[in-house]
Amino acid sequence: MHAYLIEMLECPVCHDELEWRISRRRGERIESAEARCQGCAAVYPVLEGVGLFLTPDPPRNDLWGQVDSQLAKYLREHSEVEQRLMDVSADELAPADLFYRALVLEERGEYEAAKELEEQAKAGIYTEGYLACSESQRNYVIERLSESDGPIVDTASGRCYLVEEMARRLECLIVATDLSPRVLRQDRRRLESFGLYDKISLLAFDARRTPFRNGAVGTLTTNVGLSNIEEPGNLLSELRRVVGGQFLAISHFYPEGDEVNAMALREAGLSSLIFRNAATDAFIATGWEVGIVNECSGRAEPTPKSEVLGGAQVDAFPVQETMLQWGVIMAR
Ligand SMILES: C[S@@+](CC[C@H](N)C(=O)[O-])C[C@H]1O[C@@H](n2cnc3c(N)ncnc32)[C@H](O)[C@@H]1O
Repeated sequence: MHAYLIEMLECPVCHDELEWRISRRRGERIESAEARCQGCAAVYPVLEGVGLFLTPDPPRNDLWGQVDSQLAKYLREHSEVEQRLMDVSADELAPADLFYRALVLEERGEYEAAKELEEQAKAGIYTEGYLACSESQRNYVIERLSESDGPIVDTASGRCYLVEEMARRLECLIVATDLSPRVLRQDRRRLESFGLYDKISLLAFDARRTPFRNGAVGTLTTNVGLSNIEEPGNLLSELRRVVGGQFLAISHFYPEGDEVNAMALREAGLSSLIFRNAATDAFIATGWEVGIVNECSGRAEPTPKSEVLGGAQVDAFPVQETMLQWGVIMAR
């Protein structure tokens, strides 16, 4: 993480000041450090340049310790499956398997080959409408932010699809954040290999309990992050607390009355922001001024299953064909 972030950060539990002990710097970056809260004595480390601001509540596994993904572990234990995925011509693989092969290549550090394969896989996994709407939203956000001085903070950054495009097309500094340190660690390696890491900082935290001071974030973005956060609870109030400027949230909404998908999303704890009107109301109820722009809609189907990995699916939703309405929630 870049050292400029110190000014923006506080304890995500009790909101007191942090005392920093920096053990390794590299230019403007902090590679290794410990931030101790002066109020509650919680300690937040920076490891391999990634700031770890995860709180004990809610409890979660030590993802940092899981160096290899579940996929890599499974393939190591099932060499015949690995051969069927990696040792055949790409033309013989189903789209989902192309995607999983790309993930394996990425774990092996073959980032260019992985990216090419992932692009090929996406064309078979998603409908044309889904891909077009998604691209249109990313372009819209990047154009809106073309004059931004930054830093731009992105939340639920995942594999950094939006962050990567912003880093390629915008000049300003960017902070990619996610609940999962393992995902961020992988992001670091990929971004370094593409020469994009210089302007990016990586922070791990739960978006429902962030380590930012009140109003410290000038611009917050997310690419379909809101609908991926389980039990969002106070999420929008917490984001309202830290955003001093604008929040641009790329979102897609399910049609009112799409009960089959709504029920499946509800069971996964992901239902509260899936309908356009309810999402807008939730923003207003937490003190935001909100509008939805750049709207478009596209058909979405359940993502096809893997033929090699026991029917695994790239995305869990939708569970039934539907028409997704896309847009950017612009909130202040
Ligand atoms: C599908 S990704 C979103 C796509 C991503 N924004 C991109 O542009 O590539 C969803 C991410 O949300 C993260 N996530 C889930 N719950 C979260 C939470 N409570 N706080 C922060 N991130 C969370 C997951 O770890 C996952 O990486």
